[in-house]
Amino acid sequence: VKPDDLRTPALLVDKAAFEHNVATMSSRLPGPALRPHVKAFKSTSLARELVSAGHETFCCATLREVEGMADAGMGTDLLLANQTVDVDRLGELSARDDLRLTVAVDSDATIAAAATGGVREVLIDVNVGLPRCGCAPGDAGRLADLARAAHIGVRGVMGYEGHLQALTDRAKQAALVERSMAKLLEAHDAVGGDVISGGGTGTHDLNTWVNEIQAGSYVLMDTQYNRLGMPFQQGLFVLATVISTTSGDDGWYVVDAGLKALAMDHGDPDMADPAHQVLFCSDEHTTVRPGEAAMPAVGDKVRMVPAHIDPTIAKHEVMHVVDDDLVHDTWPVDLRGW
Ligand SMILES: Cc1ncc(COP(=O)(O)O)c(C=O)c1O
Repeated sequence: VKPDDLRTPALLVDKAAFEHNVATMSSRLPGPALRPHVKAFKSTSLARELVSAGHETFCCATLREVEGMADAGMGTDLLLANQTVDVDRLGELSARDDLRLTVAVDSDATIAAAATGGVREVLIDVNVGLPRCGCAPGDAGRLADLARAAHIGVRGVMGYEGHLQALTDRAKQAALVERSMAKLLEAHDAVGGDVISGGGTGTHDLNTWVNEIQAGSYVLMDTQYNRLGMPFQQGLFVLATVISTTSGDDGWYVVDAGLKALAMDHGDPDMADPAHQVLFCSDEHTTVRPGEAAMPAVGDKVRMVPAHIDPTIAKHEVMHVVDDDLVHDTWPVDLRGW
């Protein structure tokens, strides 16, 4: 099958770009120096490629991701880098012998849930500036003591500087990451343990304070991360079909992929051909100006670049691994849902 023969909208993985990204990151952060974040791509087939590149430790954002990764035989060392009070599912996961599960906790209540669910290991999740999960740095030692009193092993700390991932002024970003990570190190002094986990694609090269980086988006990238000038290539595209055109100097054309095929929280997608300008997306359409380029014909196939990789992939059931001529593989997005 040729990529252009796929039914649209379809999610395409550029094989060469993906392989470049995985190899580049694995040489920078080999093995356990990288704890790839499954939330970005939600596919055990893709995760298996990362195992082949030497990574055996993974981050998950949902219990579904943990369950799916363990079912696929990749439960060597999974961190649920998120809080949960779902004691039933924690109990099911803790009873498995094919899984080493570590759960992030940031409160008395999440430690109690971990204890009731039979969780054996936790990380203390510290707020390092992103207003989301994480305890105050000064409370981390107390929470670690509480977990140990409940006979739970405390492996260390995590702190995700998500608010600093997309800064394009890299000198400013480096200074802010240092300040943010000082909070994590303060917490680590009080907590102890071997693991200091944090970072993401946007800070993977300048967060030298953690001992494992939780990056995920680097595998396929998006327009937001492309602005940072990282050594990763765009590897994710939405293939769409032109379904309507207009004529005249101010003409536009319409494709059959809209905001139900592309996440919009980071703005409009780009067209892969930069001459073409996205005007707006609606549910099942995107309206595009061809600019200086020729107006495409109804039935032509075009490629779009998502603004945000994680929620874009989560909208699709499969990703097709392609080069210019061939569909080489089809990876189910099997870790979708919760
Ligand atoms: C806890 C956590 N760690 C790390 C990341 C970094 O992921 P990415 O490299 O995709 O930005 C995220 C993304 O949101 C996250 O939620």
